[in-house]
Amino acid sequence: MNMPVDQYAVFGHPINHSKSPRIHTEFAHQTGQSIEYTALDVPATDFQKELIRFAVNGGKGLSCTVPLKELAWQLSNEKSERADRAKAVNTISIGEDRKIFGDNTDGVGLLRDLTINLGISINNLNVLLLGAGGASRGIIEPLLNERPRRMVIANRTLDKAEKLAMEFSAIGSIEAMEFHALTGQSFDLILNATSASLSGDLPPLPDGTLNAGGACYDLAYGKQPTAFVRWGERSGARTSVDGIGMLVEQAAEAFYIWRGIRPQTHPIIELLNAERMSELNKGTDI
Ligand code: ATR
Repeated sequence: MNMPVDQYAVFGHPINHSKSPRIHTEFAHQTGQSIEYTALDVPATDFQKELIRFAVNGGKGLSCTVPLKELAWQLSNEKSERADRAKAVNTISIGEDRKIFGDNTDGVGLLRDLTINLGISINNLNVLLLGAGGASRGIIEPLLNERPRRMVIANRTLDKAEKLAMEFSAIGSIEAMEFHALTGQSFDLILNATSASLSGDLPPLPDGTLNAGGACYDLAYGKQPTAFVRWGERSGARTSVDGIGMLVEQAAEAFYIWRGIRPQTHPIIELLNAERMSELNKGTDI
């Protein structure tokens, strides 16, 4: 008798450029798991309805991306501690009883990419986090757990940075600042968690904000290096990269939660980077 293949999906809006189906299908091949993983365009207004439909049809797990992570947190019946602290869910597991369990693998994904793939040890670094929205919220706790020497959140709207700093103050000390207040201060690691890259913009960083030989990491990614990755290169960063590695690492953690087996991430990160490079080269030939 043929057993039905376990169903997984990513929900988000927009979703047409999502790399998640590709990544999870590669993980499944690599680990010999039989799953089907699709992408569905789900705006926030349809999320609850689509989530119920997916669960009723026997779906086993979901990845949630922009703009659904906060809503996924609200709709989960049970949540992991890390999802609760982030107030955001990017990985849903659906139990036999159709209970929705929400987790958040973004923080782990970022840390694995930074520490294992890029060899950056956060302990004792001066760290600057740009942005105080949903993307920042998911990574503050894991960053603080690494015990940086100093951590600053800079945001266009100071209020939001101050609120976040307060919220996580029990885990470690964070200072909140506006961008112009960064003049004269310098950092070893700058993480861009603003949504500026999505519109090709760059947060207004004063010259000298990056220490010589420091590292820049953009949580966003695109077909081309983001404005922030380019800024890092111009500013003399030793490493200036976008969030492709984090995307693959957070997916690997989700795959582990669902299937109990940890896929290798290196081959997929290399594959995605090589594909991107070849697309870029094709573009310049035209
Ligand atoms: P996300 O869930 O992607 O974090 P969000 O919650 O809307 O999205 O937060 C977007 C973040 O990017 C905010 O910190 C926003 O700054 P404000 O709080 O001042 O709005 C920041 N942001 C967006 N565009 C920006 C730009 N062009 N320059 C600097 N910061 C920007």
